[in-house]
Amino acid sequence: MSSSTEIRRLTTPQELFEAAAEEVVHRAQSAVAERGRFTIALSGGSTPKGLYTLLASSASASLPWDRMFFFWSDERHVPPTDPDSNYRMTNEAMLSKVSVPAGNIFRVPAENPDAAAAAAAYEQTIRKFFALEAGASESKEAPRFDLILLGLGPDGHTASLFPETAALQERSRLVVANWVEKLKTHRITFTVPLLNAARAVAFLVSGTDKAPALHEVLEGSAPAEQYPSKLVHPEDGKLIWFVDKAAASGLAAV
Ligand code: 6PG
Repeated sequence: MSSSTEIRRLTTPQELFEAAAEEVVHRAQSAVAERGRFTIALSGGSTPKGLYTLLASSASASLPWDRMFFFWSDERHVPPTDPDSNYRMTNEAMLSKVSVPAGNIFRVPAENPDAAAAAAAYEQTIRKFFALEAGASESKEAPRFDLILLGLGPDGHTASLFPETAALQERSRLVVANWVEKLKTHRITFTVPLLNAARAVAFLVSGTDKAPALHEVLEGSAPAEQYPSKLVHPEDGKLIWFVDKAAASGLAAV
């Protein structure tokens, strides 16, 4: 088992998206060459939109879209047509513009009014896709995504693993509905075991509003309960931080 962390410092958001796009292309091509397919979990929020736009345009020709399989590392508890939907954002920025078979896209069934049921259904979808033992959440086996994309919230959250929330303690289920008191809503999110089973996890972090949290996550000593992004360390994989100059402004000089 080997794991390593790399911090890629770019100057502008555009350079960050270009570097991240190169990484996606490289990992997609090698995964398809080695295993015949590339499994990727997409992040939501606003930051990755620039990456998705690039993948659907200048990088598109280099990507094996028919061998790429798309999931989401978290979703808001809203229908796919809702302006807040991570699926909707990704579909508009990328998936609707490229030739990926509909059967390769596995969105969270977040239109289900029962968030826990939506999370359980998504876990079954993931287990079935990776041909893992169905149902038994006791199963310790977690699927290995080739790449999971994540963002960093100003409060140190990632996916929908928010500070001091129940999902942070989850160690066997792969996907849960996490009640976020400050947002007064459930979010459907990958859990730490699923994130840390990946071959690679890439954070995209842009903007000065992220600088304090990034400093704390990479260089601080506060507990992970308060900065859940600290919990992300692939056991046998690579952790890559794509950060722009503004976001890295709180980090110790290289
Ligand atoms: C979400 C995301 C969330 C996001 C961070 C950063 O559903 O909102 O998955 O974890 O990555 O909140 O969001 P921004 O990129 O918008 O700053």
